[in-house]
Amino acid sequence: MNPLLSHFTRFDPETGIVEGVPGISRRLADLRGAFTDEDAYEAALRRGNPVVYTVSSVSAGTGEGALHYGIGVLYPGTIGQEYFLTKGHLHSWRAAAEVYVGLKGEGKMLLEDEATGGSTIVDLLPNSAVYVPGHTAHRTVNVGATPLVYIGVYPAEAGHEYREIAKKNFRMMMIEVDGKPVAVKREEYLKGGLV
Ligand code: F6R
Ligand code: ZN
Repeated sequence: MNPLLSHFTRFDPETGIVEGVPGISRRLADLRGAFTDEDAYEAALRRGNPVVYTVSSVSAGTGEGALHYGIGVLYPGTIGQEYFLTKGHLHSWRAAAEVYVGLKGEGKMLLEDEATGGSTIVDLLPNSAVYVPGHTAHRTVNVGATPLVYIGVYPAEAGHEYREIAKKNFRMMMIEVDGKPVAVKREEYLKGGLV
């Protein structure tokens, strides 16, 4: 047995902090390019640089067949009409799938097939799981008023690729209209439609 392998981890359901694991924090300034409304983004940054989300990753197992997992906490908030979101990524090993399990809060996952650009938007809620197939960019959005807490389990060899998303962003976005989450195409939003 791998002597580094810990079979049991405990995490705080409010903060996502896993005992003995240093989490990473993504602040607003780390999310340049993720929000479409650049004026709203710059204005928000001038007011402060809040933590938008944290991820505590458990990567005890290594090698073929091993799994890693992360506890994410995505805080509530908006930039202009856009809800707080994660950067989003593809897996470096494109075939690597992932399972997300919602623990708290109210979220959506934007899934985008890399080959076709086809989008699927799925609820991420407590007591529910979302299957992210391989070759699919994925981003989490908090459309609720409380922290969105979830766990994502993926092959240890998946790796994370952020450049493609940083270049072109997702085709779909979640915006707040009359207090409710609405999905819009980025190109329509940029034209000023549907809002
Ligand atoms: C791992 C995974 C999640 C995300 C987390 C933060 O493959 O999908 O644990 O890493 O939701 O999102 P990113 O990594 O896009 O900043
Ligand atoms: Zn992932």
